[in-house]
Amino acid sequence: MSESQQVILNHEAGSGVPLTLRNVSIVYRTRKGEVQAVRDVSLDLHAGESIALIGESGSGKTTLGLGIVRLLVKSAEVTAGEITYRRDGKEIGVLALNKNALREFRWKECSMVFQSALNAFNPVIRIWDQMRDTAQSHGWKDKKAIRQRSLELLRFVQLDADRVIDAYPHELSGGMRQRVLIALSLLLDPQVLILDEPTTALDILTQRTIIDLLRKLKDEQHFTMIFISHDLAIAAELADRIATMYAGRIVELGSSDDIFYRPRHPYTLGLIRAVPKVVGDFQELFSIPGSPPDLIDLPSGCKFHPRCPYATDRCREEEPDLETVGPDHMAACWHWQDVEKELQTKPLHSVA
Ligand SMILES: Nc1ncnc2c1ncn2[C@@H]1O[C@H](COP(=O)(O)OP(=O)(O)OP(=O)(O)O)[C@@H](O)[C@H]1O
Ligand SMILES: [Mg+2]
Repeated sequence: MSESQQVILNHEAGSGVPLTLRNVSIVYRTRKGEVQAVRDVSLDLHAGESIALIGESGSGKTTLGLGIVRLLVKSAEVTAGEITYRRDGKEIGVLALNKNALREFRWKECSMVFQSALNAFNPVIRIWDQMRDTAQSHGWKDKKAIRQRSLELLRFVQLDADRVIDAYPHELSGGMRQRVLIALSLLLDPQVLILDEPTTALDILTQRTIIDLLRKLKDEQHFTMIFISHDLAIAAELADRIATMYAGRIVELGSSDDIFYRPRHPYTLGLIRAVPKVVGDFQELFSIPGSPPDLIDLPSGCKFHPRCPYATDRCREEEPDLETVGPDHMAACWHWQDVEKELQTKPLHSVA
């Protein structure tokens, strides 16, 4: 066993359901009105699994992640629902945590790597000082031990640890900084990791390194992950389950295979058809017509109906709830059976 493996293996694979969201809604209060960024989201995150949140820009993915770790801006409010976290038989109501308890929660239980955080490093603080400060502020006293753990984590994320630990952020490339951020998020051995667009700002080759690293965290270390991406290929590669978000709601939830081969929501179907194919002959390029709705003034009924080829009067009037469309597979659409029928005659991934 390599040294880099040993350290993280302190992390014990959890069991059960470490995180539960029940009917969570989040709004931003703005001058123009209330932005309904997350609406009535329920989700059980099982130990060791990774769930990808996918959906167009503005669908509420980041807001949901920030809501879980309670790092929403002041103008935002969780207006309904419950978030419950569990470890070692203890249950924590995340929404009731006070400021100090929250700080602990964010590093030791459920840690988030932020979207576009690559530029968030303080340029005059060396990586080592950043890691030491973080550990010390959580009660670690032994500087030597902190340095040891920091080096091991940097090695684990495949960096030249001895060099990187004493570097300033500007001396590192974007991919290296992203790896430092992941190492930092692991410092206090959280059970759950939330990664918001962990590869988006990176070039293709660097993306690959990060994906491989996240795979390692998932497969070898059994971290429980929520991982936000609008890149479906990456979601397919890393996620056990995928949740499609539209206008703040989860509109479909299923295994990666369900989502990619048996989507039942027309929006998920549209997202998949919009991914250009690399192999095979030229295929019709598809994009979802229209644009996401105004979250201050949402359409009636199903929020996707103005863009949906299946829409009927019922869709304009009544918003569907998630319903079971297959084993461990749910979709919120009045016409999911029509989508199923269409896919029988027009398969999604025909071999060219
Ligand atoms: N600070 C804020 N004040 C007001 N509205 C906001 C704020 N932050 C986000 N929103 C709005 O909330 C909605 C959800 O935004 P969010 O950033 O969660 O989406 P997202 O799915 O993460 O998008 P992206 O893929 O672009 O990162 C959007 O309509 C956005 O404009
Ligand atoms: Mg986002």
